[in-house]
Amino acid sequence: MNYSIALVPGDGIGPDVVAQAVEVLDAVADKYGHVFNYVELEAGGCAIDSTGEPLPAETLEAAKQCDAVLLGAVGGPKWETLPGHLRPERALLGLRAGLGVYANLRPAALLPQLRDACPIKDEVLRASNPNGEATFDLLIVRELTGGLYFGERGRSADGNSAFDTETYSKEEIERVLRSGYRAAAVRRKKLCVVDKANVLESSRLWREVAAVVSKDYPDIETTYMYVDNCAMQLVRAPGQFDVIVTSNLFGDILSDEASVLTGSIGMLASASLGDSSAASANAASSGKAAAKQVTMGLYEPIHGSAPDIAGQDIANPLATILSAAMLLRYSFGLEKEAQAIEKAVSDTLDAGYRTRDIASRKGAANEKIVGTKEMGKAVLTALEHQK
Ligand code: IPM
Ligand code: MG
Repeated sequence: MNYSIALVPGDGIGPDVVAQAVEVLDAVADKYGHVFNYVELEAGGCAIDSTGEPLPAETLEAAKQCDAVLLGAVGGPKWETLPGHLRPERALLGLRAGLGVYANLRPAALLPQLRDACPIKDEVLRASNPNGEATFDLLIVRELTGGLYFGERGRSADGNSAFDTETYSKEEIERVLRSGYRAAAVRRKKLCVVDKANVLESSRLWREVAAVVSKDYPDIETTYMYVDNCAMQLVRAPGQFDVIVTSNLFGDILSDEASVLTGSIGMLASASLGDSSAASANAASSGKAAAKQVTMGLYEPIHGSAPDIAGQDIANPLATILSAAMLLRYSFGLEKEAQAIEKAVSDTLDAGYRTRDIASRKGAANEKIVGTKEMGKAVLTALEHQK
């Protein structure tokens, strides 16, 4: 099958890591008989430099025409003094809103190979895990196109005060909750709604909607937790969580916290999804009967642009490579291809390859500290060696 993928490398280490993910995607295409057509697009600081705008209209339009979008990172010190509406981060918000990808899936699991990079003690991990193992595997489902990020904001006339508003409609809450329930259904069937309902009215609406929506998922256990407690529980007992569903701002904060538990923010992939759609254009034009099922999605590592190490062949490309795996799974329904990438990453870690962010503090026996390109190559080799 033919698929089109928009590539938005962006700024800083974005181009470094996206290049490696593309190599991996190409190897998968070869191996499994697919064709991925890439459309490279500018967004973020590089777009400001070349067009004056963080998200040129053509970028958004072209991205919409593709089947899915793979993004590196945007932003950097060069653009930090620009006014809010012209900052590179606007590109990210504009893409998320423009593509309608309201459910941001941010998995955080402790890989056995990176146990040593996790700052939590064994006994703490064990105590919170129902199966008693020193590990955790959770998924944060962050609402991505509403809340404080998109609410009304401004300054008073005298400039002495400023405001941002948290607004959520029932519909916005319901659809992201349903994304969370669908994810929980194929995981450990636990969903925790994280909010600040002891203070915020919008959070109370989240709970009201959750009380209704949860009735449609009787085999999934629904619980509620205040966000301050959740921030604490994540480091105290991460094994208690399966799926966390939360607002845009809380999800932003909690996912950075969760990333540290996995050893490095350089490992965390993410998928941002909207409603699914069937795209039959390619099938029709090629005369094939089968319509291809495509769900538009935006895929990105959750780390930022790390300008201090950009272009130095140091950055960890695994989060972006794992984001490409999520792209194949959620946008194209290519489950075995997605698993092939995930297995290749796992095998690469087994073989001892580490970028410096995930190097063992104790210096493990078979550890090989490598750069961005060599890590990408190691994943390709692992992919080739699969049966
Ligand atoms: C993230 C990032 C972005 C966000 C920034 C870069 C706007 O922190 O994706 O988590 O806050 O959503
Ligand atoms: Mg963030």
